[in-house]
Amino acid sequence: MKYTDINFNNKTILITGGAGFIGSNLAFYFQNNYPDATIVVFDMFRNADTFSNGNLKSFGHFKNLLGFNGIVISGDINDKDALKNLKQNYNFDFIFHQAAISDTTVQEQDLMMKTNVNAYEDLLKIAIKHNANMIYASSAATYGDSDIFEVGNEKPNNAYGFSKVMMDNITTSYISKGLEISVVGLKYFNVYGPREFFKNKTSSMVVQFGHQILKGLTPKLFEGSDKILRDFIYIEDIIQANIKACNPSKSGIYNVGTGNARSFEDIVTILQKELEIDNGKEYIPNPFIGSYQFFTQANIDTTKENLNYEPQYSMEDGIKAYVSEIKRLYETEVK
Ligand SMILES: NC(=O)c1ccc[n+]([C@@H]2O[C@H](COP(=O)([O-])OP(=O)(O)OC[C@H]3O[C@@H](n4cnc5c(N)ncnc54)[C@H](O)[C@@H]3O)[C@@H](O)[C@H]2O)c1
Repeated sequence: MKYTDINFNNKTILITGGAGFIGSNLAFYFQNNYPDATIVVFDMFRNADTFSNGNLKSFGHFKNLLGFNGIVISGDINDKDALKNLKQNYNFDFIFHQAAISDTTVQEQDLMMKTNVNAYEDLLKIAIKHNANMIYASSAATYGDSDIFEVGNEKPNNAYGFSKVMMDNITTSYISKGLEISVVGLKYFNVYGPREFFKNKTSSMVVQFGHQILKGLTPKLFEGSDKILRDFIYIEDIIQANIKACNPSKSGIYNVGTGNARSFEDIVTILQKELEIDNGKEYIPNPFIGSYQFFTQANIDTTKENLNYEPQYSMEDGIKAYVSEIKRLYETEVK
């Protein structure tokens, strides 16, 4: 599916974080639709290093790129020499900046700010130098304690959400100075879909519940889960937003969700129907009560207006499209 009239063949495209969930899906979008595009994936890839919360320091995984035939560079966006090489060796037309510490529970604020905030500005400078349009990943986590999910109402409540607000502030400041290129920040809500599996515990509850159900376990939901609502968005709609963000009618920061909040209970019900396994539901007390987000729902009016974005996947559609991959992963990676 092509979402724009831009012909990306013969264009040079940088995808930072391209071995991760969203970045690798973008890499395949270009490979499949524009075989003559030069696609450069820049990613740190995983090793055994962990943060103090026990999770991996980076989730990039070669398996997300199996079948990819573009250029792969293993590197750290905090490494000034690596960025200098990117600047000197290429002339990018588009930069999709997805690399980040994507784990919202990371406590190392120093590395969070360096990686998510400072390295973004370095990449933005490369975009300006190359005259490349910049599309970067912001997050719904910027809203944190806010109950208004419209740009301008951010109230981050963790270092991750704060780092994404700082990225958005840098963007606003550069845009206000006047730029030749377009810069678009996309505040993704809760994304699910193929190639998220290697995010381990930080992958979506869609794949996690899917595998619990396939194992024959009764999915455990927090009490009141029918009233815990989030804007869950299928990866294909995230790709649509990224592609449409390549020629926005206006640079800026936009929400990317479905505009329709759904419950965790719905995820389980739809999965059980699609997997044809009814192993019931178990309810457990919510240990996070007090610090837990009970509702997120993107206001996507300006995204529709300025990016011409129109979400295509309801949760029913997204899970239906995803379920064969959930089963394949279960057979090859989980069992
Ligand atoms: N998935 C979601 O629901 C969601 C929601 C909101 C925002 N986001 C944002 O979208 C972007 C992509 O997220 P994702 O879900 O694909 O996560 P991901 O962790 O799968 O992808 C991020 C990639 O960045 C790489 N990376 C991390 N630190 C790096 C560094 N210092 N140098 C180079 N590469 C580095 C990782 O190896 C990984 O492959 C991130 O910026 C994330 O914050 C994701």
